[in-house]
Amino acid sequence: MSARRAAVVGPGRLGTLVAHALTASGTSVVRVAGGSDASRARLREGLAGVRDVPLEEVAQGVGLVVIATPDAAIEAVVDRLVRADALDESHGVVHLAGVHGTAPLRRAGLAGARIAALHPATTVPTGASDPSLLHGVAWAVTAGSRDRSWAHELVHDLGGDPFDVPEDARVRYHAALALASNTVGAAVVTAGLLLRSAGIADAGRLIAPIAHASVDTAAAGGAAALTGPVVRGDAATVRAHLDAIAPDLPEVAAAYRALSRAVLLAVRPALDPEAAATLAQLLAEPSAGPSGADA
Ligand SMILES: NC(=O)c1ccc[n+]([C@@H]2O[C@H](COP(=O)([O-])OP(=O)(O)OC[C@H]3O[C@@H](n4cnc5c(N)ncnc54)[C@H](OP(=O)(O)O)[C@@H]3O)[C@@H](O)[C@H]2O)c1
Repeated sequence: MSARRAAVVGPGRLGTLVAHALTASGTSVVRVAGGSDASRARLREGLAGVRDVPLEEVAQGVGLVVIATPDAAIEAVVDRLVRADALDESHGVVHLAGVHGTAPLRRAGLAGARIAALHPATTVPTGASDPSLLHGVAWAVTAGSRDRSWAHELVHDLGGDPFDVPEDARVRYHAALALASNTVGAAVVTAGLLLRSAGIADAGRLIAPIAHASVDTAAAGGAAALTGPVVRGDAATVRAHLDAIAPDLPEVAAAYRALSRAVLLAVRPALDPEAAATLAQLLAEPSAGPSGADA
């Protein structure tokens, strides 16, 4: 029976959504620990039958413990549970951090628990509780051979699509996802700032469609699908952009250069070497050489 009962440690954005998704899949979330009184109260308000307990008691009577704390707290949570003799063969323990494999859960595994690092490749905003937000989402799974099928089954229960990431690939996996989500988002925010500086209102309406189209075509076609002045080897246009931005928006110019260097990195093999070298000079940080100066 306990296999269909779960506990959440750290009822924040993802912990809360996973608690709702587990409930929707037939697993009762019955215990919560960790975090502020306010975040635990929010979880209890949204889900009937959840008890607020001290961390050391969170694994009692449940088959699954979901650790959804900030990444840096996972290992300490596991240590406290193990020191309290709270984990054994009847438990599965997972964390949801992208950057870590199973290492922070090692002591739970030594205590006999099944362990897995599960990471949904999506972003979860504050207040999200609709389990359908996790439907069809790809989840990175890092687990030993004993626990792999159990971990995949758990992801399927949450409506997700599991794929295996080896322990030693986890940090690169997460760095890639950080680029694909945070950096793409930052490019959109920076473009909005630039449009507003040019007196163009309603930047979001203008940017969202072109950003979506660019993401879709690049995801499908890779570097060959990129477009724009860097791809065309058009140094004159890139210089004009920088000349227009740098004098009063030096930080935006720096972001333009950094993001454009990423474009250059992707398309350089297909560019004329001389054009590529000119662009590389233009896009270098000002301190890296006189040709990249903002003047
Ligand atoms: N949100 C996402 O989009 C997303 C996506 C994929 C993976 N993840 C992963 O999911 C995990 C949680 O991220 P999140 O975005 O949900 O973070 P979050 O909203 O900040 O939630 C973290 C929760 O842990 C609690 N907490 C903080 N320190 C703790 C500690 N030392 N011991 C126990 N509980 C503690 C927090 O309490 P307070 O509210 O009181 O601070 C909060 O309830 C992270 O590993 C993150 O990498 C998040």
